[in-house]
Amino acid sequence: MVEAVAFGKLILFGEHAVVHGQPALAVPLKALQATVTAEPAPSGSGLQILLPDVATPLRLETHDALSVTAQMVLNHLGVPEPDMVLRLTSTIPLQSGFGSGAAVSTALARALSLALGHRISREDLNAWVYEVEKIHHGTPSGIDNTVIVYERPVFFIRNQTLESFDIAKPFELLVARLGYATPTHITVGDVRTLYEHDPAAIQPIFDQIGIISRQARQAIESGDLTPLGHLMNENHALLRKLTVSDNTLDRLCQVALDAGAEGAKLSGGGRGGNLIVLANKNRAAVQEALLQAGAVEVIHTWVDES
Ligand code: MEV
Repeated sequence: MVEAVAFGKLILFGEHAVVHGQPALAVPLKALQATVTAEPAPSGSGLQILLPDVATPLRLETHDALSVTAQMVLNHLGVPEPDMVLRLTSTIPLQSGFGSGAAVSTALARALSLALGHRISREDLNAWVYEVEKIHHGTPSGIDNTVIVYERPVFFIRNQTLESFDIAKPFELLVARLGYATPTHITVGDVRTLYEHDPAAIQPIFDQIGIISRQARQAIESGDLTPLGHLMNENHALLRKLTVSDNTLDRLCQVALDAGAEGAKLSGGGRGGNLIVLANKNRAAVQEALLQAGAVEVIHTWVDES
């Protein structure tokens, strides 16, 4: 039996503006992972993809995101459909802004190619998972697949060479899950419409988010994390202007700040999903306040290089 994993991701700064050419920062979220095991199956049974809690296996002809991923791997390797069972398990909640779709595709492609005796390059894998992301998200920037495939912090600018960044001093974040979400292609589409209706008003918001991402990178690389909380709050305010926050996200950000957090912002597509909180001093109180205020889960994570 072969097993492969892929981690979730967390966007620290720059979501949405990244679709429009601005830089964004994202890191792997190693607390959450998708796992795919591959086992040989009886001759003639073909490829079956078993999902948690779903009785009927997916097949290549199903044409959903995972079958498409498997087909891409087989085409690339130039091999016929194998007799194999791929079994998916995942601790990454669906549609929560943690890159679940990209992570399950990545784990599946890794397991399938390993089981067939091949190692695929990260470049190829990244290109395939990006194609699959388009099925979920319409016009993704590519940041989710990139951070998940490369498993490194990324300073991401669309259509540019991949850049990682150093984390001089590891820091801790709280990630509060709201328990509901809006599909990313909807929020990305709404931001695009907003921009098309009034580019003169919206472009400066994208530009300002880009400046924040660059300043955040500088802070993280220098190890002077003092500006980070303020930058998160500013980034959240700009995301509100782009209409991708909602009352719950705004309320929970405020709850975190009132309980002593240094910064809070939505992370990912917005209108639900999750928010990230920097709370160096009052972490336990902030965590408790977020849960009291309705977060369904508050995950504690380190942002570091490992
Ligand atoms: C989604 O995780 C991040 C967005 O910026 C969309 C994208 O970059 O494709 C909202």
